Amino acid sequence: MSIKLPFLKKKQKKPLNDFELINIPSHVAIIMDGNGRWAKKRGLPRIAGHKAGMDTVQTTVRAAVKYEVDVLTLFTFSTENWKRPKLEVDFLMKLPKEFLHKYLPELMENNVRVETIGDFDSLPAHTREAVQHAKEQTKENDGLLLNFALNYGGRDEIIQAMKQIVTDVEQQQLSAESLDEHVFANYLYTKGLSDPDLLIRTSGEQRISNFLLWQLAYSEFWFTETYWPDFTEEKFVEALQDYQLRKRRYGGL
Ligand code: FPP
Repeated sequence: MSIKLPFLKKKQKKPLNDFELINIPSHVAIIMDGNGRWAKKRGLPRIAGHKAGMDTVQTTVRAAVKYEVDVLTLFTFSTENWKRPKLEVDFLMKLPKEFLHKYLPELMENNVRVETIGDFDSLPAHTREAVQHAKEQTKENDGLLLNFALNYGGRDEIIQAMKQIVTDVEQQQLSAESLDEHVFANYLYTKGLSDPDLLIRTSGEQRISNFLLWQLAYSEFWFTETYWPDFTEEKFVEALQDYQLRKRRYGGL
């Protein structure tokens, strides 16, 4: 991921009063929480919350493009979400297709590349096909990387990395001595991506719920009470502005 040049960005544009495009996080990760409670508050079924949340994804993609974020990783479906009622799981599995049907042309226009992290092969065929199509269609785009964490679990990711490392050591493709943080990171789904600079979680919950356990080691966290379907560009900017004030020391002084 390229490092932003603050002085260039400052000259380029100034989209909101007193908000400067300096020190924009390169990688923003979001735990999109509160769809169910949003629906309940309105006397609607939980799936209505997920459907509204789907449109908030596009609102957030637009904001990420506008404020020149490089990578947006969204926790769309966790390895634990299979425990939900079948009707809800089935609905969630149909949403990527619906989202892409509705928004793929706009993603193309905005030079957005679609990717995923997670256990892709265990997804239903119809979900895989829709997402695979989008990945192929957008693979030459070099703007925002829209990264869906789909059937993703942080512990699952670490275990699958460990299994591959053991295999590679057994087959003498890798020596145990050469294993370090950099080598290990290359066995994760996020291989090649910078770690998130900023993690946002909506709905008032303050935990990471098995999301990007390795990658969030030095990320800045930002929480809001807002339920995901009510999340707006203004909220996104609030998170960016808060991030701009943080002093990141990575364990140093
Ligand atoms: C958590 O809210 C949200 C999820 C488990 C699903 C997230 C999915 C979306 C936001 C829509 C997917 C969009 C695309 C583009 C595929 P919750 O249901 O746990 O909320 P609750 O804690 O209020 O019950």
